[in-house]
Amino acid sequence: MLTDDEYDYLFKLVLIGDSGVGKSNILSRFTTNEFNLESKSTIGVEFATKNVSIGNMFTVWLFPDGNTVKCQIWDTSGQERYRAITGAYYRGAVGALLVYDITRPTSFQNVSHWLKELRDHADEKIVIMLVGNKLDLSETSRAVPTEEGGALAETQGFLFMETSALDATNVDNAFATIFDEIY
Ligand code: GTP
Ligand code: MG
Repeated sequence: MLTDDEYDYLFKLVLIGDSGVGKSNILSRFTTNEFNLESKSTIGVEFATKNVSIGNMFTVWLFPDGNTVKCQIWDTSGQERYRAITGAYYRGAVGALLVYDITRPTSFQNVSHWLKELRDHADEKIVIMLVGNKLDLSETSRAVPTEEGGALAETQGFLFMETSALDATNVDNAFATIFDEIY
C-alpha cells in the first residue's frame, strides 16, 4: 500500500464557470464534505486534493497498489477581477468541470465563453464535464431544463450531470464519472 504522500501519479482537474454557480462548494463538498451557504467569491486560486480510487479493470492493472490516484482540483473565481493568471490555471489539467447554475440562464449562456477559454488555454484532449448545479432548487426555481444541458453536452461531446453541492446529490458521482473517462 502507498502512504498518503507516496503517489506516483497526480492528476489535475479545473473548475470553471460564472461567479456564484457553486464551484467552491462543489469542491468543498467533494473533498471535505462541507457546504457553506454564505461563501464568498474565491480570490486567486485555491487547491484541494483528494485520493480517489478508480475501480475498473484497466486501473486495477495500472495501479496494483490499491489503484488510488491523487487528484488535485483547482478553483478560481468566475469574476474576471479576482482571477489568477489563466495560462497557469489550465496548464497540465486533464479534466474540467464547467459549471452553470440551473436557476440562472445567463450562467448557462456563458458556457460558450468558458469553452472559448478552454480552447485557448487548455490541452486539446482535456476531458470536459458540463455540470448544472443547484439541483436542490429544481422544484422552485429551475430555469434551465435538464434536456437543454444534456443536449448541449451531447452536441459538444461532453459528459453531463446535474448536481447539488447543498444536499450532495451527484457530487461524488460527477467526479467519479470524469475520473473514469480520463482513464
Ligand atoms: P466564485 O468563486 O465567485 O466564482 O463563485 P463560486 O462558483 O465558487 O460559487 P460558490 O461556491 O461560492 O457559491 C455561491 C453561492 O451559491 C453560495 O451562497 C453557495 O452557498 C450557493 N450554492 C452553491 N452550491 C449550491 C447548491 O448546490 N444549491 C444551493 N441552493 N446553493 C448553492
Ligand atoms: Mg468560488
